Amino acid sequence: MKGIVLAGGAGSRLYPLTQVASKQLQPVYDKPMVYYPLTVLIAAGISQICLISTPNDLPRFQQLLGDGSQWGISIEYREQARPEGIAQAFLIAESFIGNDSVALILGDNIFLGGDAFPRAIADFSGGASIFAYHVNDPQRYGVVEFDAQGQAVSLEEKPVQPRSNFAVPGVYLYDHQVVEIARKLKPSARGELEITDINKDYLHRGKLRVNRMSRGSVWLDSGTSSSLHDASSYVQTIEKRQGVKLGCPEEAALHRGFISQTDFEKLVEGLPECEYRDYLSSVATGVGRVGFISA
Ligand code: TTP
Repeated sequence: MKGIVLAGGAGSRLYPLTQVASKQLQPVYDKPMVYYPLTVLIAAGISQICLISTPNDLPRFQQLLGDGSQWGISIEYREQARPEGIAQAFLIAESFIGNDSVALILGDNIFLGGDAFPRAIADFSGGASIFAYHVNDPQRYGVVEFDAQGQAVSLEEKPVQPRSNFAVPGVYLYDHQVVEIARKLKPSARGELEITDINKDYLHRGKLRVNRMSRGSVWLDSGTSSSLHDASSYVQTIEKRQGVKLGCPEEAALHRGFISQTDFEKLVEGLPECEYRDYLSSVATGVGRVGFISA
């Protein structure tokens, strides 16, 4: 399975933070936001990744992440000229996807703990596989409704009167047919190609699996000043308490065997003196390895 990180958009809710720097490059506590979704993909065993962003921001992502070879993975870059919807990612990345299945993750979605995502990848056998997470404010998201047997029966984008409290988080798995489905989409009333319309297509054909994320697993989006602050505080709290770092692509790559121990140690040697380097050094010597769970 290949992976797409969608890191474009306007980021208008974070103005003026986003006036000169992309939302997904803003810090979530001690790392750039994009490290977190990237780590989710790597930790799930995905090593071929395409990052999509705006023409303006793409060079800075390239500067930050390079071609991925330093972590034993590959990262390609594609431009989204205008924010015309999440589902446009499949048209932009068509040649990258080819005949493979693909995981799309939004660059401002932070997933911490739990193993719902790697499990869904391991179980994936075609169609689409998405997630459902119980939230307080479902009207801000795509909302999924379940019947008494726990089967998904409806999907609605930002409903005024949600039929459930289950929001669909910004990580989705699809077979390669997603490109064809995206090609047939019409822009919604807000002028976007909607990911919910893709999911509805799979739902109506009986090909949509919805994985409920457990209570303890954490999904935060960091698109507003307040949620960005919450995400930073959350990461700080866990890191301080446990002495491990979250959203560390180097560590995930080592754990997955994408990078050898020797190359990992060389990589760490090349980093400037900082807390991040100290942490990775402890991982290299085994001190920081408490068992790597998702991100
Ligand atoms: P949103 O938070 O819906 O939009 P945004 O990032 O443009 O922010 P704002 O509403 O404050 O202007 O986007 C969710 C994620 O999807 C985010 O990581 C940006 C990404 N995205 C794109 O890359 N391209 C798009 O066309 C859209 C709609 C979103």
